[in-house]
Amino acid sequence: MRVTVIGTGYVGLPTGVGLAELGNDVICLDVDEKKINSLKEGKLTIFEEGLDSLFEKHSKSGKIKFSTSFSESIPEADLVILAVGTPPHPITKEADMRYIKQASEELAKYLSGYTVVAIKSTVPVNTGDMVENLIRKTNPSAEFDVISLPEFLREGFAVQDFFNPDRIVVGANSERAKALIADLYLPFKDRCPILYVKRQSSETIKYASNAFLAMKIQYINEMADFCETSGADVYEVARGMGMDSRIGAKFLVPGPGYGGFCFPKDTNAMAYMGKFNGVDLSLIEATIKGNEKRKINMAKRILDMVEDVKNPTVAVLGSAFKGGTDDCRESPALQIIEIMLAHDVNIKLYDPEAMGNTKAILGDMVTYCNSSYEAIGGADVLAVLTDWEEFKSLELEKIKQLMKRPQIADYRNVFDFNKAKELGFDIRSLGRI
Ligand code: UGA
Repeated sequence: MRVTVIGTGYVGLPTGVGLAELGNDVICLDVDEKKINSLKEGKLTIFEEGLDSLFEKHSKSGKIKFSTSFSESIPEADLVILAVGTPPHPITKEADMRYIKQASEELAKYLSGYTVVAIKSTVPVNTGDMVENLIRKTNPSAEFDVISLPEFLREGFAVQDFFNPDRIVVGANSERAKALIADLYLPFKDRCPILYVKRQSSETIKYASNAFLAMKIQYINEMADFCETSGADVYEVARGMGMDSRIGAKFLVPGPGYGGFCFPKDTNAMAYMGKFNGVDLSLIEATIKGNEKRKINMAKRILDMVEDVKNPTVAVLGSAFKGGTDDCRESPALQIIEIMLAHDVNIKLYDPEAMGNTKAILGDMVTYCNSSYEAIGGADVLAVLTDWEEFKSLELEKIKQLMKRPQIADYRNVFDFNKAKELGFDIRSLGRI
């Protein structure tokens, strides 16, 4: 099948590369010339585990091509996937549909023969209708169907998730479009359910899923706070809860708050849609508020640990919003750092992959280090803010020698809590004392 993917970000690029691996002829289209030139030169523009080898394989084989031209990329396509950004509006937080509209109007001009236009970007309910109307208005004779094909990939695991989805959701009102999608996902036929639903249901499934997962995280974070006051251990509590198949063991890991480009944006957009439709979505609103408070509270806890220190230094491990990605958008780590900076704390920072993106945001406000141990040297507190695997192999004995004071705020549970205590660390974990 000939597929054109519009948008080469964290969704578009892994999707394009994954579809090429399934045997399709893919064009990744983006208006950002710099990105496309880089991709044409064989340089990936994002970090995603496992993406580089597949990207190289299919760039070389010609199964995937890159372009900035709608006129060259759209006419031949059987399927056009919209994977452009829908960032939050700065004030209302509703999803900004500017890029979806621009791409829809532009692609409409070049549709030729029957084409399915699939919306993969996370979009408000009824966007399918809006895109359909825009295309029809721009090109009344075009033969097309608009479907919703929401994305459930996690950053850092995008390649793994692409090939091992829990489910594929397709919101389609036309049998012809369903048949084309069934053909595209034939390799997954016996691997996962393919759920065909109304377009509005599919659009809602995406928001409802992300909001639910965000709520689950906020719930376990609240339980962590409770455990700290009751003497229980939240990791034991989460294990016990997770064994109930109705609850499930995943997304019960306490942390410094959820971040990234999706959960904050999508919970806010869902809350906005609730207000707009006159529906009380109080659970989602409480989740948003709780998550905001959590980051402030996390920073305050670290500040308390250096309250008596003049000109304190905090070693921060991790600035990405989670391990496995270089993405710092809405990263709790950066928000916590910013609060500490406002309180005149010196920050020595190390992240295995996100240093470039961090520098673009924090500039020269922090000291950038080349390794964890370099960041830890001379620090009054070590704060672990991102769950990178490599932090788990750091040696507590060595850390103790390097630090000015043996204090750890382990917000990602990377250290052996009891061992750290035995070694004389003042270690503050989440959900256990
Ligand atoms: C999320 C969803 O998990 C994907 O299914 C969805 O496709 C994606 O958003 C999207 O809408 O595009 P992602 O943002 O990559 O994926 O990140 P997650 O792995 O879900 O983590 C989100 C945040 O929650 C991170 O800050 C992470 O550290 C935090 N988290 C996650 C916890 O604090 N505890 C957990 O148990 C799980």
